[in-house]
Amino acid sequence: MTIDVRSPHSRRMLTNLPKRVSVYEVSPRDGLQNESAQVATHAKVRLIEALADAGIRRIEATSFVSPRWVPQMADGTEVCRMLERREGVTYSALVPNARGLERAVEAGLREVAVFISASETHNRKNVNKTIAQTLEAFEKVIGPGVAQGLRVRGYVSTLWGCPYEGDVDPKRGLAIAQHLLDAGCYQVSLGDTIGVGTPVQTGKIVELFLQHVPAEKVALHLHDTRGTALANVLVGLEMGITTYDAAVAGLGGCPYAPGAAGNLATEDLVYTLHGMGIETGIDLEKLWQAGQVAEAVVGRELPGKVHQAGVRSLAS
Ligand code: HMG
Ligand code: MG
Repeated sequence: MTIDVRSPHSRRMLTNLPKRVSVYEVSPRDGLQNESAQVATHAKVRLIEALADAGIRRIEATSFVSPRWVPQMADGTEVCRMLERREGVTYSALVPNARGLERAVEAGLREVAVFISASETHNRKNVNKTIAQTLEAFEKVIGPGVAQGLRVRGYVSTLWGCPYEGDVDPKRGLAIAQHLLDAGCYQVSLGDTIGVGTPVQTGKIVELFLQHVPAEKVALHLHDTRGTALANVLVGLEMGITTYDAAVAGLGGCPYAPGAAGNLATEDLVYTLHGMGIETGIDLEKLWQAGQVAEAVVGRELPGKVHQAGVRSLAS
């Protein structure tokens, strides 16, 4: 369908899109952390390599958290050791504290991500600390990480809503994000952890952040629990956000956020971006193949739309 740009209805529609978007792939971490059956280390490595083969350049490969809290991620060191590292690909890991940073450095990673919630109850359930105590723990992670030459990313979770507290004041999330950026994070990823966000709300949150933070330092991490993630991406694109987190085939969830389903599926994101003429550097066919690997790795059907429908619409 061609859109008549002179039509009064289309005049203001999607006119402000970026030329290129950076995809930050979280399936090996956010995706697999929620799987109850232990996934074999070699299968995790196979998934990460399939993602790199598809042209993904930023991959969150694992997390270095307490193995008691998230047993699925206990093999992070082994995953990093077995990985055949590709030129131009940044592998990162989630770390909650100094021990996590130490393990990531030992595993040879050059990027880590810290995480904190905008709501007290989710933060306590997730890391057993108040928000203030978590920021204090990050003093031994962000500054020391940057001093060792690592790039440190920061997540601010539950910004669109908390599974325990309901509505969250985005200004609280902004204050936390500013703290993370001041401490040395190169980017903050804003989390709709339980996928409750809708487009006007997303517009308000992004607008608030962009009044204080440059667009390139903001990423969106949208879970697709209620099917609204792509609609929220469109709002982000229009407002100048150029980094989006996603998980192949829609893997995902947070073990400490009841009701958190899959992340926005990377294939759905990339299909939509490419269809709008926005470059990602990703080969969608190969990405679809990586989705097949993800499905084989977890041994059940995954929810991504393009994953299920296929890349092309032509009948064979
Ligand atoms: P704690 O029990 O309060 O702390 O846990 P602790 O310091 O007493 O440690 C307990 C045990 O864990 C000790 O071992 C420590 O040595 C060990 P023990 O003496 O009992 O044998 N330990 C560690 N081991 C390995 N690596 C470490 C580490 N730290 C401690 N780094 C803690 C506090 C933060 C450690 C724990 O709560 C934790 O690991 N939580 C992680 C929870 C998690 O990974 N959640 C999912 C990720 S967040 C998410 O999904 C949201 C996101 O996707 C964004 C969004 O969607 O919005 C990022
Ligand atoms: Mg998440």
